[in-house]
Amino acid sequence: MKILFSRTFLLLFIVLSDLSFAQNKSDRELILIDKDWRFSFGHLYDTQKDFGHATGYFSYLTKTGFGDGPAAKDFDDRAWRKLDLPHDWAVEQPFGESGSFSHGFKAAGKNYPEKSIGWYRKKINVPESDLGKIISIQFDGVFRNSKVFFNGYYLGTTESGYNAFEYDVTAYVNYGGENTIVVRADASMEEGWFYEGAGIYRHVYLKKTNPIHVDQNGTFVTSELINNDATITAAITIKNKGKFKGSIDVVQKILDAQNKQVAISSENILAPEFYKTIDYSSKLRIENPLLWDIDLPNLYQLITEIKKEGKIIDSYKTSFGIRTIKFDSEKGFFLNGKSIKLKGTNNHQDHAGIGTALPDEIQYYRIKKLKEMGSNAYRCSHHPPTPELLKACDELGMLVIDETRLMGINDYHLNDLERMMKRDRNHPSIFCWSVGNEEWNIEGNIVGERITNVMQDFAKTIDPTRPVTVGISSGFKSGISSVVEIMGYNYLGNGDIDAHRNEFKKQPGMGTEEGSTFATRGIYFTDDAKHYQSAYDKKPRPTFYSIEEGWKFYAKRPYLAGMFIWTGFDYRGEPTPYGWPSVTSYFGMMDVCGFPKDNVFYLKSWWGKEPVLHLLPHWNWSGMEGKEITVWAYSNCDEVELFLNKKSLGKKKMEINSHLEWKVSYSPGTLEAIGYKNGKKVLTAVQRTTGKAENIKLKLDKENVLKGNVAVVTVEATDKNGLNVPTANDEITFSIKGGKILGVGNGDPTSLESDQFIDDISLVAIANLKEQKMANAVLSQQLSNFEENEWTEAFKDRDYKKQAPSYIYKGEFELKNNALTNKVSFFYKKIGVETVVFINGNKVEASTDDAQKYILNSNILKQGKNTIHIAATPLQKIKDWDVMNTNPGIIQVITPAEPCKRKLFNGYAQIIIQKEDNTKEVVLSASAKGLKMTTLSLK
Ligand code: GAL
Repeated sequence: MKILFSRTFLLLFIVLSDLSFAQNKSDRELILIDKDWRFSFGHLYDTQKDFGHATGYFSYLTKTGFGDGPAAKDFDDRAWRKLDLPHDWAVEQPFGESGSFSHGFKAAGKNYPEKSIGWYRKKINVPESDLGKIISIQFDGVFRNSKVFFNGYYLGTTESGYNAFEYDVTAYVNYGGENTIVVRADASMEEGWFYEGAGIYRHVYLKKTNPIHVDQNGTFVTSELINNDATITAAITIKNKGKFKGSIDVVQKILDAQNKQVAISSENILAPEFYKTIDYSSKLRIENPLLWDIDLPNLYQLITEIKKEGKIIDSYKTSFGIRTIKFDSEKGFFLNGKSIKLKGTNNHQDHAGIGTALPDEIQYYRIKKLKEMGSNAYRCSHHPPTPELLKACDELGMLVIDETRLMGINDYHLNDLERMMKRDRNHPSIFCWSVGNEEWNIEGNIVGERITNVMQDFAKTIDPTRPVTVGISSGFKSGISSVVEIMGYNYLGNGDIDAHRNEFKKQPGMGTEEGSTFATRGIYFTDDAKHYQSAYDKKPRPTFYSIEEGWKFYAKRPYLAGMFIWTGFDYRGEPTPYGWPSVTSYFGMMDVCGFPKDNVFYLKSWWGKEPVLHLLPHWNWSGMEGKEITVWAYSNCDEVELFLNKKSLGKKKMEINSHLEWKVSYSPGTLEAIGYKNGKKVLTAVQRTTGKAENIKLKLDKENVLKGNVAVVTVEATDKNGLNVPTANDEITFSIKGGKILGVGNGDPTSLESDQFIDDISLVAIANLKEQKMANAVLSQQLSNFEENEWTEAFKDRDYKKQAPSYIYKGEFELKNNALTNKVSFFYKKIGVETVVFINGNKVEASTDDAQKYILNSNILKQGKNTIHIAATPLQKIKDWDVMNTNPGIIQVITPAEPCKRKLFNGYAQIIIQKEDNTKEVVLSASAKGLKMTTLSLK
């Protein structure tokens, strides 16, 4: 029997159940394990450079637990780089002409085999008290084709660079001790034609549950609104990975935003059998619920508790919202019964300076920027997003089209679609699933029609509450267009939208892509030699339309639910209409940092609610005196009057969804616009000719960072009056105390400057290892002269039963340089019991923190070939089949990073910083030649 309770009726139960909640901690724990990973590059095809991985006689696929090379539990990774996730190794690389156009020419990926495989290793402790729980490792996404090992055991391969996955490691755990997680990511293949990053660029968690637990993504909350009441269906999947047979209690509670319980249900059911799942659902009622809306994004939490013998064994939280959505083929889209025009943007997931490794704070920053522009919808083009993006959209009120990567009807495609949908279907922000984009091979034909039919019917089996779309670019007539539930028009120029609609009158539609306009922030004259596109909104190509043309088309047609601009932000890759050395796209309404191009003000005027008045271009045109400059005003005022140095250049009437233009003969001074509404002055906008750049200004983008340790700082150059100098391109050097610089950017699509400044770590092998037998077991502390012709290859045909009392080994390593600033260490691996190490004839001492590490001073090193001697008493075999180490270790050379620097681009740059744990104050300093230095202190 299901029990339905209303709020008042349940007071007593609430109190009781809350008490039990406080007394009984459930077995579920989700522990973020982003910190303290070790990283090194492997190699795409040279197994030697891939640390000899998978070269053993028995591979990890032959015998379980046979992960070799770095996949082995005890592999020595001390010389590897230490880092925290999220991490994108592609963004750390320089740019290279042999890099991929679509991936922004970063020197990574297929054409750079030494930068296409990344190895990650992490140690975790699992206490003995966890024995009996189910332990798993959960990845939000790894780019891409990741193989995961745990204590040397191979767990599986996930091809998708976008989907989340988890592995059950319960059987492999060393309870009460150390465990090793290893990930090998292979980013040599591309899944998209846009920048995708490389490595573990999303979060990783250690998850612990009771054997009986809510399955991964095992809840689906839906609601039905009748009058002022919501009936919530809380469907859950329970899994049993244990032997328990019997009944369990399932308690489902709903909490409002203040954590107040507003509904509860409870039922005793039979637990699923060993390794089986059961689906269960309960209905709960909320009176007068607060709806989720784009202006007031109210959220609720479903807490699902499983109790066994009175004890809470699992507690699972699901955030959800209550709202209704509807597409109407005549009237467009409705949210909570209200008609809403979708004012959307398409976006990829990368950001300036940090690539695809976005700290959660940056998700909020970006969604807030889009909302400020008046946008209310976001299309995840063309892949499943990170969960934190959806969380930001839920919390800030942004509608979302969630899109899978590749169309098809087999496991590769449908499994990815299913995983994305199950992970994401509780997000109220998602209003539509997209199962494909511009699949040119199948769009217009019967294959496309069949695949779409399967994919959208399949999608309905996972979520019957939302419709399905596909972005279509060629011929809005046959194939996918004839069957897809919500027609996704990609570009006006690609076909006759009205004609399609007249043929398919019952099919709602929206512009899944529109625009693809080219603009460089702060540039007002196109200069093909410099790869700069002027920022006046213009028709980019013969069959494409300007933003204004596009919006006018969609705004006029109520049957079209709205449009999604290509794109909200510039992104790495697709630097159309140029190629190398342009590395980012020109399509964005904002640049890669989120600095607005002028089009933002067009959209603010007609998408937003606030009065807007914006003038372009800037007014620093020294050398252009007397020449004609086109001045535009973006505004939603009724009329705008323009003045140059107080002289009126005429008042003009604004047409809805338009802009105004004047031709102005340039003279320096003040260009001013006054906006009128109902005949009254409401706004002024000014562009002033500035003086030369004198100061640096650092400004914290406070409003856009909700929480956490990461901050976005805008860097500007100002003149003596504090005005931003819109042409300043000074190079700024940064330093930081109490924190870390995550990345820098400036929105210049042609900038080949570094995004990140990190120490370079190179690992140098010891080559040509030779040995001589020594007569004495007491090791000499000095090197003697050895007979040159007595050296033989080390360990060759070693008879472990008849070893010499000690050996002297000799090897070589090459140093590219011997800079004083380098930090060189020898990470020794035991080839003897007692050991003395000599570098170029000098005895060196082991470091105090690690007896098998030797820090090598530059005064004993040299550029080129160096010699290492190791005197050692031999290791003895205990059993005949013992495999003895014959590798003496590795030389690590750390070349410290240069100071972080970035040029301003047209007056602006951006720096993303992260506070160190346990510091109270972060101080960021910025200096540049000829400008006054400045600091910003954050407490
Ligand atoms: C579209 C495509 C987008 C992007 C854009 C550039 O055809 O769907 O992913 O490539 O063109 O104009």
